[in-house]
Amino acid sequence: MINSRQLFLLNTAQTSNFPRLIEISRSKGVYLYDPKGKRYIDLVSGFAVSNIGHRHPSVLKAIRNQLKRYLHVTVYGEFVLSPQVELAHQLVNILPDKLNSVYFVNSGAEATEGAMKLAKRYTGRKQIIAADKAYHGSTQGALSLIGNPSYHQAYAPLLPSIDFITFNQLADLEKISTETAAVILESVQGEAGIRVPSKAYMQAVRKRCDETGTLLILDEIQTGFGRTGQLFAFEHYGIVPDIILLAKGMGGGMPIGAFIANRNVMSVFKENPMLGHITTFGGHPVSCAAALANLQVILDEKLVQQVAGKEKLFRKHLNHPSIREIRGIGLMLAIQLDSFEQVEQVSKYCAEEGVMIDWFMHCDSALRLAPPLIISTRQIVSACRVIVKAINKFQPASLPHKH
Ligand SMILES: Cc1ncc(COP(=O)(O)O)c(C=O)c1O
Repeated sequence: MINSRQLFLLNTAQTSNFPRLIEISRSKGVYLYDPKGKRYIDLVSGFAVSNIGHRHPSVLKAIRNQLKRYLHVTVYGEFVLSPQVELAHQLVNILPDKLNSVYFVNSGAEATEGAMKLAKRYTGRKQIIAADKAYHGSTQGALSLIGNPSYHQAYAPLLPSIDFITFNQLADLEKISTETAAVILESVQGEAGIRVPSKAYMQAVRKRCDETGTLLILDEIQTGFGRTGQLFAFEHYGIVPDIILLAKGMGGGMPIGAFIANRNVMSVFKENPMLGHITTFGGHPVSCAAALANLQVILDEKLVQQVAGKEKLFRKHLNHPSIREIRGIGLMLAIQLDSFEQVEQVSKYCAEEGVMIDWFMHCDSALRLAPPLIISTRQIVSACRVIVKAINKFQPASLPHKH
């Protein structure tokens, strides 16, 4: 009889030739379980989503309460829906004053798309500048911003008037001019294998954008909701973006995203033409209810304040001569190894030993660490023990190299 793995390979579109093929039957807190009851500690958080862990009781309660009221009722932006209104109000409360208008969408890529359109409409300019090794989503517009030439070649033609700067390089900021509608940057680059820019660089980007009347879009889709040890990573740099992009960790495991700007900027969607950006499901009431509970948990359980200490623990316990570097900030870390083969073998072994770990789109020689922020000391220590054991087992010299 055909099993569910075979059906997965047959009928579910595949995105690589080496999917993990681990079947999940249940999740709770920092753990995932397979149908045989095998437990995995999740050090990836569904790719920076489950910041408060899987199926947090407060999120489940908020979802159940909303299920009793209504699901989808109309396209985004028409009716007054209390989960949206309350979530927008909470987000505006925790963000700097100028970010006071929230446009809800379903995903990160959609947040990027909306922000690109907004910047072009508001400034009347065409050029958008992104960074090398950037990732802002996989739709055509967002993909046009990807800082990886192989994707440009594969999907050309992508959007015109997109230019690139080198991330964290001051000299390149000269490319930002009065022709530039927006500069879009990840506050910490994720898929690049975690690259943290300097405070001086981010302040210089802000300054250059101010000088040229360019909007600064900060993508906090991976960094948001506490992952880097601040609620939003821009807080590390003492700057405020003109548009912030949110998704992933926003919904407590439910799909939701947002781009947030000043009311004055956002108002351009209302006229000439009206309905400048629309979405049917954006800000789904159940997702908004879950996101509101998610945010409350992050604030009530003081999760952000615990992140720096947990980062230190990971750094202390990930000790092995073949780790070249541990890059990153907070619970957004990359363990730099030697090759893709080593990363693959180490992560496969870790999965066998019940530790879920992954790698990065533009950096396949590093392991991705993005555990739920609720992870405990004991869980960090035991997961690190497995990772170190795996790295010890698969040393670079014994490995065939990819290229
Ligand atoms: C920084 C960043 N921006 C945007 C996206 C796209 O988000 P989504 O997959 O929800 O479209 C991602 C997803 O990995 C991301 O890491």
